[in-house]
Amino acid sequence: MNWTHKDLLDIESLSIDEVRHIFQTSSRFIEINSRSIKKVPILKGKSVVLFFAEPSTRTKTSFDMAAKRLSADSFSLASKGSSLQKGESLKDTVLTLEAMKPDAIVMRHSLSGSAGFIARHLKCSVLNAGDGWHAHPTQALLDGFTLSRFWDNDFQGKTLLILGDIAHSRVARSDIKLFTRLGCHLRVCAPRTLLPSGIQDWPVEVYKNLDEACHKVDAVISLRLQLERQEAGLLPDIREYAARFCLAQRHLKKAAPGVKIMHPGPMNRGIEISSDLADSKDSLILDQVESGVAVRMTLLYLYLARPKHEQEIPEG
Ligand code: NCD
Repeated sequence: MNWTHKDLLDIESLSIDEVRHIFQTSSRFIEINSRSIKKVPILKGKSVVLFFAEPSTRTKTSFDMAAKRLSADSFSLASKGSSLQKGESLKDTVLTLEAMKPDAIVMRHSLSGSAGFIARHLKCSVLNAGDGWHAHPTQALLDGFTLSRFWDNDFQGKTLLILGDIAHSRVARSDIKLFTRLGCHLRVCAPRTLLPSGIQDWPVEVYKNLDEACHKVDAVISLRLQLERQEAGLLPDIREYAARFCLAQRHLKKAAPGVKIMHPGPMNRGIEISSDLADSKDSLILDQVESGVAVRMTLLYLYLARPKHEQEIPEG
């Protein structure tokens, strides 16, 4: 496939054929990641800056590991300890980074739209690792890829529930865009204060009751409460929230057989998901992490090998 994109800012910019190509290529990387020697030389000589101005465990580590497995060099910068703390503007910081000639900047930032803003100023690729509540395209792709592995790539007519803090969640926004286009029916369930204004225009069915929301559902994605993005007074008492919205086995009695449980992490056990369920056989939470490395290897390969993306992934 001829990969013409410079940046990955959101899900909307990818066609469904491109999404399917990402899933197919990621399956190859899952296989490579299961070998005892996992490093392949396809991005040798390329360099990637990981610029994370918000906390991250999974996304940052998996981009880092993905870059190294492809033999690219990766360099990390956090806002703490960077010149952002000395008052340097975001634009000046990223122009400084680009002057060092990386091939891509992977960026996470608390401002919605920040990845698009810097992409307009930079010649190198920008991969959005989460911008405010706006978008988290690589999380949506890894969520989609995880389910594609269990559903044999067949999303048509499946019902997916996204549970929790929809209002502040970039994961919910990107997941809804991706899974709707893949042919799934989308539901959301949350207290009224954690639903975004304008939800009636989203392609989702809205539920207030978790038992009803789980009826005949094929997968549930529970979300973290985005405490850092809440305006005062939006969140009901945490105990009250957990009593109504903490996903547990008992809610799934009427779910579709083989229902899959996911959470992007980091999860608050006992608040968003019960510990038993998070550790159960139906939980794909660690599969999501495994998929995340493979999907980010695919994305680095597609964006960085540009324009000579005809390069083949070496056979084992
Ligand atoms: C998500 C994020 O940062 O948006 N986490 C992740 O990337 N694995 C979800 C979250 O922080 O709640």
